[in-house]
Amino acid sequence: MVDLNVNNKVAVITGGTRGLGLDCAEAYVLNGASTVVITSRKADACKESKEYLEKIAKENGKSVKIISIPADLTKEDQAVDFFNQVAKQVEKVDILVANAGATWGASLEDHPVSAIKKVLDLNIASVFHSIQLFTPLLSKAGTFEDPARIIIMSSVASLISSEPVGTYGYLASKAGVSHLGKNLAVQLGPRNITVNSLAPGFFPTKMSKGLISAAGDMMIESNPRKRLGQKQDIQNAVLFLSAKESNYINGIVLPIDGGSYLSGAFVPSSSKL
Ligand SMILES: NC(=O)c1ccc[n+]([C@@H]2O[C@H](COP(=O)([O-])OP(=O)(O)OC[C@H]3O[C@@H](n4cnc5c(N)ncnc54)[C@H](OP(=O)(O)O)[C@@H]3O)[C@@H](O)[C@H]2O)c1
Repeated sequence: MVDLNVNNKVAVITGGTRGLGLDCAEAYVLNGASTVVITSRKADACKESKEYLEKIAKENGKSVKIISIPADLTKEDQAVDFFNQVAKQVEKVDILVANAGATWGASLEDHPVSAIKKVLDLNIASVFHSIQLFTPLLSKAGTFEDPARIIIMSSVASLISSEPVGTYGYLASKAGVSHLGKNLAVQLGPRNITVNSLAPGFFPTKMSKGLISAAGDMMIESNPRKRLGQKQDIQNAVLFLSAKESNYINGIVLPIDGGSYLSGAFVPSSSKL
């Protein structure tokens, strides 16, 4: 019998207040975590999501501490402050999900360079900074049998080179951050920390809603599995990569997309963000 769980583990999820990050937090709450830390910029969202996670923990008879701290992770001082606040409350961190991310879509002619810089800053530089800050606490948690985990939320956008919407910074950032993950996997493996990336296809969230409302039917039609991603898809994948059973998996980029990127029909050429 295989029982995938994160029993007694401490998990930190950046961008954990909604969308895929909140899905990951929920998976940890329901599968044995002792402490789940979430963060995002908006204090209201942090409060609401903490209450939501506490509610589902109670409904499912789970004893788990939820810590929720607002921070803009693109601001170096706020990222450091977030880390210091976490470090005051936990002695080690078993799992870091570097999930906070953003996108921007516009044609080449109309694409502001400032948007490229903003996307790269959050999707790569702040992922690097979060990992840099948390590595000492991850080192404390990891053992040879059950290493600590860094899970980077990349995208199937990291695996494609053609999309018609003009998400130039997003594609580059996700390819870059997946590669960062491989580099760190080699470096941190001997320190009992594995680094893997998830590469979701289209999941309905605030980030993807514009594209899905414009082209959702076409995305489903062109997907070999004939549907969009669902909460359970991301939860099953993140739980597997966090459980002791996956301790020998290091440096992968795992597509969770029903095979959509292989079909070559990622999004229709008429869609606009
Ligand atoms: N949805 C998809 O189809 C899809 C597909 C592939 C990959 N992904 C990736 O999955 C991750 C989550 O995406 P999502 O779809 O769940 O997006 P989302 O619903 O927009 O959630 C993004 C999260 O990141 C937080 N965030 C944004 N900017 C931040 C900042 N500067 N500092 C700290 N937190 C920040 C947001 O909260 P605040 O606004 O309060 O800061 C929110 O909690 C992203 O990395 C995205 O690229 C998504």
